[in-house]
Amino acid sequence: MRPSRFAVLSAVMVVAGPATAQIEPPVFQTDVISQADIATFQVGLKKIRERGMMVFSTPMTEEIGYGDGPINPLDTVSPGGRPTLQGNGLHLRVNGLDAQTCMECHAVVSNLTVPFTFGVGGVAGSNANVIFQPTAIDVADAAQAGEASMDGRFINPPFLFGSGGIERVGKEMTAELQKLKGAAFASPGQPVALVTKGVSFGSIVYRNGNFDTSAVEGIDDDLVVRPFGRKGEFATVRGFDVDAMRFHFGMEPVEAVGPGDADGDGVADELSIGDLSALSIFGTNLDAPRVDPPTPASVAGELLFDSVGCTTCHVPFLDTESTFLTYSYPEVDEDPFANIFYRADLRKAPGLKKSPATQGVRVPLFSDLKRHDMGPGLKESAGSDLDAFFITARLWGVADTAPYLHDGRAHTLKDAILLHGGEAAPVRQAFENLPNAGQEAIVKFLLTLRTPKSPASDILP
Ligand code: HEC
Ligand code: HEC
Repeated sequence: MRPSRFAVLSAVMVVAGPATAQIEPPVFQTDVISQADIATFQVGLKKIRERGMMVFSTPMTEEIGYGDGPINPLDTVSPGGRPTLQGNGLHLRVNGLDAQTCMECHAVVSNLTVPFTFGVGGVAGSNANVIFQPTAIDVADAAQAGEASMDGRFINPPFLFGSGGIERVGKEMTAELQKLKGAAFASPGQPVALVTKGVSFGSIVYRNGNFDTSAVEGIDDDLVVRPFGRKGEFATVRGFDVDAMRFHFGMEPVEAVGPGDADGDGVADELSIGDLSALSIFGTNLDAPRVDPPTPASVAGELLFDSVGCTTCHVPFLDTESTFLTYSYPEVDEDPFANIFYRADLRKAPGLKKSPATQGVRVPLFSDLKRHDMGPGLKESAGSDLDAFFITARLWGVADTAPYLHDGRAHTLKDAILLHGGEAAPVRQAFENLPNAGQEAIVKFLLTLRTPKSPASDILP
């Protein structure tokens, strides 16, 4: 029997192969670079960063562990046993299970340009806001209270640029504060001022066999500086990343839940220790924000930014004592230099400049890494003592990252400034008292603080 024309054609195609390779959906594999590979310098920094970028950017699917296991009726809000919307098994949105890759919320490098400039590690608009652990939502105002209520948090994604320098600053501050705590212990009854890198966190005193922390300000009583998260809750990028994987994707890092199938979704050992090391090394070696050349108005604005008091919280720069960021596993928040397995030079990938004053780098972050009470206007409704408190937003890169404030409620820089209340109320008033030209000059100064042009361009595929 003569073969059909189709059979001949497909036989030829099988033999010759298609002219171009068929595109396949990306599949995430765990532990491609192991912790041992990293710790024994088997692979170079560039390869580790490339791998970290894949962990950051590859869509997670059920096959590799996306999602939670069976619903846990005793705890329906923590990752592991959360219910899903309309029983679809995939999305909750209002408490995580809200994306497939980190890129869904960290991909806008500049929204000063029209259209946006996209890139890895950036911000997002308020459509990508995270809705964190609400138990009661009344968006339709069924209660006719005149407002849509929610008892969870609503949080706009910040960028990851320059976070290596931030992490190093935080670790050095923590180490110094722990030493001051030791000094307080050694002199019972004597209050010790908690000042590090020129920032005051109040004071501590040891008496009657206990630390009295009632005068500690702007950080937790354990005296750990936690720069990450808008409420200052995470000491390191790794600490944040572990929770991000669990919250957004239901991907369970072995270091958080132990080996095996912790969430009972049928997939064991979803993310290795090496995956999280690569992810955090990638995140902390992203380029630092840059500054545009000054103009006469921006120079005047920078002076006013200082003289009206913005710099009391938005401290222009903090210097480190070393040019290296060290990486620890396991991490011990109170002992930031324990268990070091790796280090990276902050002058290289993040591109931070050597400090003229110390042996380390200068981190021009515009923050004191301290939490402040921002008043009733910005207060959240999660029912926590910290509802009105936020860590001073870092202003480097701020020109490119509207919308502003923790939930993206401010669409312009000026709106963001005018919404400052609480501890910042007197300084906001001083801003309002400036003539228009002065207010505009401050905004012009902020508009010189730019995000990196093309972050991680040396490792993009
Ligand atoms: C649905 C949106 C969303 C996704 C997906 C997402 N993030 Fe985020 N990210 C946020 C928000 C919102 C914050 C601020 C959270 C806060 O203040 O507590 C944040 C903050 C961070 C921070 C701290 C930045 C800082 O300076 O405070 C890091 C690091 C981070 N994310 C990493 C990741 C990684 C890694 C992933 C993927 C595993 C990821 N994010 C996925 C929205 C998202
Ligand atoms: C008492 C401390 C304090 C003072 C003083 C202060 N700020 Fe802030 N600023 C903050 C905090 C905290 C936030 C974050 C608030 C939030 O997330 O809702 C912030 C946020 C901002 C933002 C938004 C950044 C972003 O990425 O969302 C801008 C812009 C800003 N401040 C500018 C200023 C200017 C200009 C002044 C002086 C007129 C000033 N701030 C004075 C503490 C302060």
